[in-house]
Amino acid sequence: MRVEYNEKENIFQLDTKTTSYLIGIADHKYIGHIYYGKKLADRRGIGALLRTEEPPYVPSQNLREKCSFMDTFPMEYPAWGVGDYRESCLMVRTEEGHRACEPVYAGYRIFDGKPQLDGLPSTFPTEENEAKTLEIVCTDACIGLKVLLRYSVFEDSDAVIRSVTLINEGDKTLYIEKVLSACLDMDNEDFELLTLSGSWARERHMTSCPVTCGKHGVSSVRGESSHQEHPFMALTAPGTTQDYGAVYAMHFVYSGNFMAMAEAGQFDSVRMVMGIHPEGFEWVLMPGASFVAPEVVCVYSDEGLGKMSRTFHDLYREHLIRSPYLHKNRPILINNWEATYFDFNTEKLVDIAREAKKAGIEMLVMDDGWFGHRNSDDSSLGDWIVNEEKLPGGLKALVDRVKSEGLMFGLWMEPEMISPDSKLYRAHPDWALHIPGRTGTLSRCQYVLDLSRPEVVDYVYERIATILRSADIDYVKWDMNRQLSDVGSLGFPSGQQGEIFHRYVLGVYALQERLISEFPRLLLENCSGGGARFDPGMLYYSPQIWCSDDTDAIERLAIQEGTALLYPLCCMGAHVSDCPNHTVGRMTPFATRGHVALAGTFGYELDITKISESDREQIKEQTLMYHKYHPLVREGDYYRIASWQHNHLYDCWEVVSSNRREVLLTYVQVLAQANFKSRKLRLKGLDPNGLYRLEENGALYSGQVLMSAGFLVKRSFGDFVSHLFHFEQVEA
Ligand code: DGJ
Repeated sequence: MRVEYNEKENIFQLDTKTTSYLIGIADHKYIGHIYYGKKLADRRGIGALLRTEEPPYVPSQNLREKCSFMDTFPMEYPAWGVGDYRESCLMVRTEEGHRACEPVYAGYRIFDGKPQLDGLPSTFPTEENEAKTLEIVCTDACIGLKVLLRYSVFEDSDAVIRSVTLINEGDKTLYIEKVLSACLDMDNEDFELLTLSGSWARERHMTSCPVTCGKHGVSSVRGESSHQEHPFMALTAPGTTQDYGAVYAMHFVYSGNFMAMAEAGQFDSVRMVMGIHPEGFEWVLMPGASFVAPEVVCVYSDEGLGKMSRTFHDLYREHLIRSPYLHKNRPILINNWEATYFDFNTEKLVDIAREAKKAGIEMLVMDDGWFGHRNSDDSSLGDWIVNEEKLPGGLKALVDRVKSEGLMFGLWMEPEMISPDSKLYRAHPDWALHIPGRTGTLSRCQYVLDLSRPEVVDYVYERIATILRSADIDYVKWDMNRQLSDVGSLGFPSGQQGEIFHRYVLGVYALQERLISEFPRLLLENCSGGGARFDPGMLYYSPQIWCSDDTDAIERLAIQEGTALLYPLCCMGAHVSDCPNHTVGRMTPFATRGHVALAGTFGYELDITKISESDREQIKEQTLMYHKYHPLVREGDYYRIASWQHNHLYDCWEVVSSNRREVLLTYVQVLAQANFKSRKLRLKGLDPNGLYRLEENGALYSGQVLMSAGFLVKRSFGDFVSHLFHFEQVEA
C-alpha cells in the first residue's frame, strides 16, 4: 500500500497490492484521471496521458476554448454547468437559483488510517497502519463550496475506496441537488457493462450489454437498493471471463436510492459514475454545514471476474462486517414462515423445535404473525405486543420452552413499517411517511414509518429493545416488505422535503447501530421481501442477509451466483425448503436443496413435523455436513467453475481454503442429457505442486491435473441432481 504526491509532476499515486490509481492536476486547477490498472512500479511518462499538451489545451493556454477542454478532460469529479456536458457528479443551487459549479484544486492531505463516515456504514481498518487516505481539497470560491475527495487503500486489499464531503464555507445557503460519490473517466476500450438485476424472488441475475454511444445505467428510486437493480456496475474488456480480462467495478456502500451510469462519449471515452440518485433529492447546506456522501468501493481486476469477486469478498469479510459471528459457524436455524405462514401457536412451534433438535438443528426462528392481531399481512405492524391467543404467557414463556428443548431462539420483526389497522397508526397517523392531502399508496397493506424523524426512531428503538430485553433472544430477522412512496415528512419544513429519502436511510442505520451496540451478541439478519436490501450498507450492521424469497434450489443457482459475484458466501441467507417449492412449484431432490443452501448461511424453511421420514433423516446428515464444511465455505476463496446461466445444463462452484489444502466443489446437473457419460471440470486456485485426495473414494490427483487437465464428473440420471466433492491435500 502506498499513497504519494509528486509535486514536480503534479501526480498522486495510490498503490494497492496489485493495482495503481493515478490522478493528475492540470493547469494547477483541474483534477484529472490518469490511470487505473495493473500496479505501476515505474510511472515515468504517464503524465502524457492527461493529454494537456494536445488541443484543445488547458485553459491557461487556450482560454477561448475552455468549454472544449471541460468537455474532453478526464475529470476525477465532474461538476455541472461550466462546460462539461457529460454525466456530472455535482450540482449545487445557490440562493440566487444558479446551478453552475466548478470545484478546482486547492490542496491535499495524506494520512494514515481511514476516517469513519458519520452516521453511514463504511469500510474500516482493524489495525493501526492498515490503511492510508488521500484527501484532495477543491473549492469553488464563487459559491463558497469546499469539496473533499477521499481515496483510501488497505494494506491487504486491492480495492480503492472513495467518498465525498461537501462543506459550505460561504455565508449563504447552498442547495445540493446532486452529489455522487465516485467517477471513473477513461478511454472506452469496447467495454461491456455488467450489472445485477431482477425482480422479487429473482434478485441479482448477472446481465451484460455493450457500452454503445450514450448513457447506460441502473438505479433505484424505491428508497432501498431494490429487488430490481443493484448498486453495482462494472466495465469489462471484450472477452472477459472468470479468469481473464480487465474489469473496472464500483459497488455502493448504501441502502437507499442510487444511480450508476456509464456514458460513452464523442471522443471514444467512457465515464462511469455512482452515488445517491438525484431524483427526489435536495439537501439544504447551511453556512458552516457539511454533507457526507456514502462511499463507493472501486475494484480493478486484470484477471477477470473471479479476482474481482475475491477482492470484494475479502474486503467485506475483513473490513466491513463487524459481527462476532463473522468467523463462526452460524446456528443452523429452522424458520416457520414456509412451514406455517401466519397459522401457528406455541404448541406448533414447540413441536417443530423438538423435532428439529433431533435432526441437529440449533435455532428456531419465529417469523411474521406473533404480535397484535396479525393473522394475515393486513394489520398490526407497529403494535409489537405479543398475541397471547397464539402464544399464551407471552414471548418469554415461548422462548423458555424452546430453550428447554435445547434450541436457541430467533425472532422476526419489521420495525420500519406501520399498518393502517394498528393502534400505533390510530395514535400517530402522522408517523407514516405521507403527503398531506394525498391518499397514501399502500403496498402489502402497509405504510412506511417516517424514520427521518428522531422521535419516531427513538420510539421504534424502544419498542424493539423492550422486546429483546424481555426474553433471551439470540437472533433477529429484520424485514422490510415494501418500497417507499409518498415521501413527505411532517418533521421537516417544506424546503427540506428533498432530504427525507436520505434521512430515512440514516434513520435505519441509526436504529441498527443502536441495536447491535446494546445487544452485541445478537445475530442480526437483514431481509427485505427477500433480497431487496442486500447491499454493503446493510452488511455493516448484519453479517448475513436473506438472499431471496425464492428458495427453489434451481432458481437459487442464478440468484446465488449473482450475489456471490460481490458478497462472501458466509453472508448469503440460504435455506432448504419443502417441495413442491412454494414459489415455483418445482420438485427437486432434498440433497440438491442441501448442497445449494450449503453455499450460504444454511438453515431450513419447512415444517419438519410434516415432511417424510426419509427427508427428516437427510436433515440429520445435512446438519453434520454443514458443521464439517461450513468453516471452509465461510472463510475460503470462491471460484466460479461453470454457470448454468451460460451453458444451460449445469452449474459448478468451488471454495478453496486460503492455504490451498482443502477444496469443496459443488456440481449441479440441472438438466440431464442423453448419450453423455461424464463431464470434465477444471478446478481453480489449487496448489499446482500439491497432491489432493478425494474424500469420497480416496483417489489421488495432482493439483496440476485438477487445474490443467480436469476432473471427471459422471453423469447422473435425471434433472436437478447435485454432487459435493471434497478434496484434501496429502503429503506426496
Ligand atoms: C418476507 C420475507 O422475505 C419472508 O421470509 C417472510 O419473513 C415474510 N416477509 C413475512 O412477512
